[in-house]
Amino acid sequence: MQIQENISLRPYNTFGIDTKARYFASFSDTDELEETLNFKLQTSNLILGGGSNILFTKDFDGLVLKNEIKGIAELHEDSEYVYVKAGAGENWHQFVQHCIQRNWAGIENLSLIPGNVGASPMQNIGAYGVEIDDVFWDLEAYHIQERKIVTFTRSDCEFGYRESVFKRKYKDQFVILNVTYQLRKKPRFNTSYGAINQELDRMGVGELSIKSISDAVINIRTSKLPNPKELGNAGSFFKNPAVDTVTFNVLQSKFENIVGYPTADGSVKLAAGWLIEQCGWKGFRKGDAGCHARQALVLVNYGNATGKEIYQLSDEILQSVKEKFGVTMEREVNII
Ligand code: FAD
Ligand code: EPU
Repeated sequence: MQIQENISLRPYNTFGIDTKARYFASFSDTDELEETLNFKLQTSNLILGGGSNILFTKDFDGLVLKNEIKGIAELHEDSEYVYVKAGAGENWHQFVQHCIQRNWAGIENLSLIPGNVGASPMQNIGAYGVEIDDVFWDLEAYHIQERKIVTFTRSDCEFGYRESVFKRKYKDQFVILNVTYQLRKKPRFNTSYGAINQELDRMGVGELSIKSISDAVINIRTSKLPNPKELGNAGSFFKNPAVDTVTFNVLQSKFENIVGYPTADGSVKLAAGWLIEQCGWKGFRKGDAGCHARQALVLVNYGNATGKEIYQLSDEILQSVKEKFGVTMEREVNII
């Protein structure tokens, strides 16, 4: 176990924000995690994966624990599914590729999402018509105060749109150690998201495969989302807000091109990127903080923006969307 002091978190967050951690350690198994927690029990803890959904607005005056638990194992299979367990510190996209190579289906639409396996249920990551909720089997998590490992089934996680118990009632209480996914042996292709079919046509794909869907998703994503290695960002900064149908109809009568999608619960999900673009923010830059020119939902750091500057910009965006449309948006990124 090695605990570093006063280190820069810049290499550990995809926004590239240069704040400091009072203490920093990584762990690759539960014993090492316990050992580290014993050393600094009194400080506050922050569990870090790939740092791709975090905005540091100040120095962290506690212990940052980087989860490096590795390993991918096929646990068992039945007639329809294979059950695959992955360590929380595995890179998400590499795990997706591992599954595609073995023809295990279900997460191909989630290709190229940055970050690690451990955050996937915490965030209930989603893209192109699929979310973790659709393939989740169970996970093991370590309760920091009670010092014990607890298993969470799908219903225990209370998944919602970019939500789970780990972001709500159990916030900061558990360290996710590993996650088991239920993947299909015979794929059920999901091309419900319009852009996928367009891209498959453009690619000239005849017979569908999970690999071709993954390739299409990768192409779409690289065409509009900035690569954090080139331009600091944390993906969508805000959630797409939901409104009831009456509100949507009123909005549509005033803004005829407003983009909204009906959801299973009867509400309409508005495209936050459209709302932000209509307020004139797309491509906006102040200092090194900006709103991406190809995807207005993504805030970016051109180099040396501080977390406070990015946060301030997000506040201004929230206010202007509220003023123009009367819609309250919510941040998706975890603010520290
Ligand atoms: P981190 O940023 O390290 O952590 C996120 C939160 O989870 C923090 O609160 C952290 O404390 C907590 N956490 C992390 N690991 C653990 C653990 N093991 N135990 C307990 N708590 C933990 N997200 C989507 O859903 N869909 C997308 O399409 C998408 N596209 C993106 C595109 C880009 C370019 C970027 C930069 C981000 C995108 N994201 C997307 C957001 C991000 O990739 C996901 O939220 C991802 O799951 C974050 O993983 P991470 O390991 O980097 O988490
Ligand atoms: N749009 C605009 N202007 C923009 C951006 C978007 O008008 O600048 C409109 C367009 O009409 C477009 C619609 O918004 O058709 C939807 O845009 P897009 O397909 O890019 O998806 P999104 O709603 O902006 C969501 C997720 C992404 C996920 C994609 C694909 C959220 C908050 N974001 O983005 O997730 O990859 O769908 O499924 O739900 C993330 O969470 O970090 C993330 C990138």
